[in-house]
Amino acid sequence: MRQRNVKNKKEIINSSKYIVRDYYSLKGKWKSLFNNENPIYIEIGMGKGDFILSNAIKYPNINFIGIEKYDSIIALAIKKIESFELSNLKLIRMDAIDILNVFDSEIDKIFLNFSDPWPKPRHEKRRLTSINFLSKYDKIFKNSCEIEMKTDNRNLFEYSLISFNSDNYIINKISLDLHHSDYKDNIETEYEVKFSKLNNPIYYVNVVKKEKK
Ligand SMILES: C[S@@+](CC[C@H](N)C(=O)[O-])C[C@H]1O[C@@H](n2cnc3c(N)ncnc32)[C@H](O)[C@@H]1O
Repeated sequence: MRQRNVKNKKEIINSSKYIVRDYYSLKGKWKSLFNNENPIYIEIGMGKGDFILSNAIKYPNINFIGIEKYDSIIALAIKKIESFELSNLKLIRMDAIDILNVFDSEIDKIFLNFSDPWPKPRHEKRRLTSINFLSKYDKIFKNSCEIEMKTDNRNLFEYSLISFNSDNYIINKISLDLHHSDYKDNIETEYEVKFSKLNNPIYYVNVVKKEKK
């Protein structure tokens, strides 16, 4: 994502009621932060936050955690979210590569929306649907594993389907053109709005795996 420098980004992040600062100490204990037994869904690479905010409003009985690695981007998300009073939404500024130090067998679903494609073969491990990341996700899921992905990048989509398959995921729902499908519950992301205006098809898949490794 192209980043514009956000003035006072550190202050915005440090003063936000949504940002979790001591996220390492919550490993295995996130339900205590939300103070309930509701499922926990995370979005990795949440960008400016439209998707996770709309989900948190629409589904008050699900806890949502948005993860974003860049200060300027998460600061823009905070500006949007801060005026809402939502007890089921938290944000973490971190690189997902570190996810095993933050969660342990407590996540019910992962959203990957318009993830960076990292097209060069030497960068494959950085793709959020590489086996490198899928094997980490295995350890943070509670019981069964569920990943929902959207992208306009056909190469990344095809790569991800192969990657999910090789990690024993089964396709639950799939569309090669989400906006012209009968799928009803779609919540759009910033990138989705941008790319669908260009008439790019939006690729969507929901995959599940019953048994964790
Ligand atoms: C192309 S943008 C998409 C943003 C948003 N999900 C959307 O659909 O509009 C990808 C976002 O993922 C973030 N990101 C990429 N790799 C990440 C990682 N390893 N950990 C956390 N965030 C990451 C980027 O900083 C960027 O904000």
